[in-house]
Amino acid sequence: MPNHVAFNPHLPNIAESNALWRRAQGLIPAGTQTLAKGPTQFSNGVAPKYLVRGRGARVWDVDGNEYLDYNMGIGPIILGYGHPVVDEAIRRQLEDGITFSLMHPLEVELAELLRECIPNAESVRFSKTGCDVTSAAVRLARAFTGRERVLCCGYHGWHDWYIAVTDRNAGVPACTGELTRTFNYNDIDSVIGAIDDDTACVILEPFVFERENGSFLSGLREVCDRYGALLVFDEMWTGFRCALGGAQAFFGVRSDLSVFSKAMANGMPLSAITGRYEIMSLLEKEVFFFTTFGGETLSLAASIACIDFIRRHHVTERIALLGQRLLDGLNALIGEFALDAVSISGYPSRTLMNFSPKAGDPIEMKTLVQQELIRHGVLWSGTHTLCYSHTEADVDYTLAAFAESFRVLKRALAAGKVGDYLQGELLQPVFRKTNAFNAGPRRAAQTVADQATASPRTLG
Ligand SMILES: Cc1ncc(COP(=O)(O)O)c(C=O)c1O
Repeated sequence: MPNHVAFNPHLPNIAESNALWRRAQGLIPAGTQTLAKGPTQFSNGVAPKYLVRGRGARVWDVDGNEYLDYNMGIGPIILGYGHPVVDEAIRRQLEDGITFSLMHPLEVELAELLRECIPNAESVRFSKTGCDVTSAAVRLARAFTGRERVLCCGYHGWHDWYIAVTDRNAGVPACTGELTRTFNYNDIDSVIGAIDDDTACVILEPFVFERENGSFLSGLREVCDRYGALLVFDEMWTGFRCALGGAQAFFGVRSDLSVFSKAMANGMPLSAITGRYEIMSLLEKEVFFFTTFGGETLSLAASIACIDFIRRHHVTERIALLGQRLLDGLNALIGEFALDAVSISGYPSRTLMNFSPKAGDPIEMKTLVQQELIRHGVLWSGTHTLCYSHTEADVDYTLAAFAESFRVLKRALAAGKVGDYLQGELLQPVFRKTNAFNAGPRRAAQTVADQATASPRTLG
């Protein structure tokens, strides 16, 4: 019998998942197209590997086991899997066609909708992936300012200009990395130390799991203006999740360019770059940014339906309330179980559970909590990404499942043998941001291993 979202005594049977995984070995390098979905983040031997169906906040794996999901497709599923309004828009458009030989009216309609919802979206262009638009923003900033250097702070995709300053930069010319510098979130001095007259832009996620200190983003705006650099918000996670207008609306700080993907189409592959007309107008001719599938209509139709629903049903407010309920409940449980090594960070729209080395190996602790949650039908890999279809009852069940998991963790810690409680392989650390202030790419590569305390970034 497959497991359900219930207090199951046994771990799920994942035979089909494992059989598929064996077929992928040697055929699909790394096994996955999306690092955050692969077995480095879900304990091999315990966690399911392949999902085949989703409905609302629940998913079913290839062996028929059911889970409450807290990853939501690594961000895109903002309304819920198979949301009827979005799916109907896709189905309607499918009747007429997917990709055409001329432009489609939906391109204009969605651009107008984004202009209405997002501050400073004077112009809009579409593409398919997050790193398409972060890279377009960097190229635009370089063209607009006539400068070459870029300052960044988090994860921005697989393209050369960013990956050059990580420890996974094989194949990227060293000269590319010399044009990118890093700074630390909430540390305006690290920006001031890195910015110079050759800085084209400062690009960052407006927040990840560290709360903004009340002056960092406005300070960043001021420093960018002082140096003539553009401020670019990478809103892959904040867009349509923290507020309908994204981080500019949430914090009241203006960016020059903002880039979106993930939640804008409830799972369909679409991204957008928005911003000031005088910058974006370089896309008319000077800056080349065109792609075959940029006007693919199923995604555009899905996005219009999704954003319209988010706006009419106050989706971001509901997610914040559910997130706060989960956050409060988790903090209460951490206190109840006196788990000093566990803490929660982030804003209610998306939080992270942190494990510190105070009590034991953080990765062992996280792997054990994941294992016990999977037993009870909760699919979790450290973050809590909620969607409109999660219910208060789902959150309360999740808290009860965490209570059971914490009980096991507490017992394992008391015995000093967390590793002995694990039935699958250890997780691996999530891909980390480069935190080597002002570092060139070679130094960043050497120091990345020392950055155990850096904020984790979920790699897309
Ligand atoms: C903040 C951020 N920027 C950019 C990207 C890259 O997006 P994609 O994987 O769609 O290229 C991601 C992916 O997770 C992301 O989280």
